[in-house]
Parts: sequence; C-alpha cells; structure tokens
Amino acid sequence: MMPARSLSYPVMKPIPLIIDCDPGVDDAIALLLAFAAPELRLLGITTVAGNVPLSLTSSNARRICELAHRTDIPIYPGCPRPLLNALTTAAEVHGETGLTGITLPEPTMALQSVHAVDFIIDTILNSAPPITLATLGPLTNLAIALIKEPRIAQNIQQVVIMGGAITHGNITPSAEFNIYCDPHAAHVVFTSNLPITLITLDVTHTAIATPKRLQNLRDRQHPLCEAVANLLQSYGSYDQERHGFEGAPLHDPCVIAYLTDPHLFRTRPCPASIELQSPTSLGRTIIDWYNTSQNPKTINIATTINAEAFFQMLGDRISGL
Ligand code: BDR
Ligand code: CA
Repeated sequence: MMPARSLSYPVMKPIPLIIDCDPGVDDAIALLLAFAAPELRLLGITTVAGNVPLSLTSSNARRICELAHRTDIPIYPGCPRPLLNALTTAAEVHGETGLTGITLPEPTMALQSVHAVDFIIDTILNSAPPITLATLGPLTNLAIALIKEPRIAQNIQQVVIMGGAITHGNITPSAEFNIYCDPHAAHVVFTSNLPITLITLDVTHTAIATPKRLQNLRDRQHPLCEAVANLLQSYGSYDQERHGFEGAPLHDPCVIAYLTDPHLFRTRPCPASIELQSPTSLGRTIIDWYNTSQNPKTINIATTINAEAFFQMLGDRISGL
C-alpha cells in the first residue's frame, strides 16, 4: 500500500488585529463579524468616545463580548473626547444607549486598567509580525499613540478606517461622522505615512440592510442573527426617515469584511487629506480622484463593495458563532 501523502496547502496565518471602536450599532455588528473570522487574531478591543460617550462605548463593547461569549478578549478604554473639538455624539442614530433595538444586561467582565493608547503602543512595539488596525470610530486613540510613540508606524501592517466620503457627508453636507468628530486626529493619522485603506460612505451606503436581507438573517433562527436583525431594524429607521434608504447602512462591518474578503471590494489609490480650516467643510476628506495635485497616492480608497455577497457572508459567519 502506498504511504499516505500529507497534502500541503499554504496555510495563511491569521492577521494580528486591534479593533478601535465606539459601539454603536454597526460597531457591535463589526465586532461579532470579527469574532467569527478565522482569518483574524483579535488581540484586543480599544474604545473611544464617538457615537455615545466613552463610558457607554466601553460598556457596550463588554456587552457584545458577553453576548457572544468572548469575554477572553481584553477591552481597553481610550480617549473620552477628541483632540481639540468638543465631542459630537450620534445618539439620534444609535439610541441613547448606543445599542438601539436590543436590551442587554449590565456587563460584568472587567475593563482593562491599561489605557487604550498604551495598549496600542505596547502591542505594536512588542509584536514580531506587524499589527493591523481596524478603526471604526473617531481616530483619537491612534493619533495620540502615533504622537506619543512614533516608532509604532514601522510595525503597522495596515490601517483600515471606516471614515470619510468621496461625495456626500452624513453629519454635514461635506463630512462623514468619524472624521468630523475628530478631524485633527484624522489629520495626524493621514499624514503618518501608514498604509491606509479608507472605507468611505460611498461604499457603506451601498451595503444596506434591506427588509429582504433582514429577513434572511431572521430565517437563520440563530440568537446572534436575531440580535443583529433587531439592532439593524431599529438603527435603520433613522436612515429610512432621513435619507430615504431602504434600511441601515452597515458602515463598520465593511472594514472587517475588507480584511477577511478583500475581493468583495474595488479600490483606487489617491492622494487624500483632511479639511481643517473651512467652517462649512470641517472634517471633509479631500480625495484627489484625478490626482490634480500630483501628490503621492498614499491612501487606498475603497470604491465599491459586492453588497449581496457581503450580506451572505455576514449571515453565514455570525450564524456560525
Ligand atoms: C460612522 O459613524 C458612526 O455613526 C458609525 O458607527 C460609523 O462608524 C458612519 O459615519
Ligand atoms: Ca463606529
């Protein structure tokens, strides 16, 4: 008998990842999607003030870890306000608790005593493989980490940011919420020479939780899919009423999908910067599509997503948790 041959497939090492977030309904769904991704090795979650104040984004991160039985993932609280501006929140979109549509018990898992900025710095400096960052909220924590310890830039594989808009803003006519909230932090990050991919509103506004897609989630008869559908049902009512969308845009989960399934996206490298002067356009991402400036094309701009495949993947993965 022939000896059994060992088949050698190339084994992809999971991406060592830190998620910086402000949960937030879509942040919460992004966390669930990350928990379900074998392609990712989630080293920790850092929180920042954004959709709701820091105390709530931190307790919501704990609630979501407990809901998914992932209390092994450490959560580090970060900055309670933007670098210069007063905090703008989005409770009208995410609800006063930040998790509109579901009621979760008071969390019991501990928050880490180390500050998010120090966790980011220590993890990056002490890691052999370069670290990837997924940022789902204002960029305050990462900006301060880069200012406090610029050497981290050398050991960052990439930063995938939910933020900005090629066309229309969602908090002002010009600006997207995460960048508007802390434009100065965004400027620090955008000028740091890091490999950045930007998942803009132009992409996320095509990843809509339509009634059919919500029903598909419910049909899976899985408690986490039901929770996601309830979150999206409630969160979607804002965009339905205000923007005439067919449901909720899944902004932040697109960042996780970009890491696990980059083939779902098209991208285009462009020079990009943050508007810091104009009172009417504060926080706008100035994306030089035709490179009129002839500046280096430093930012990878996601331009499209295969939304149907994305929702299928989301349901498949979360129902596997
Ligand atoms: C972004 O702003 C927040 O309200 C969402 O969580 C998302 O990160 C969309 O503009
Ligand atoms: Ca967010």
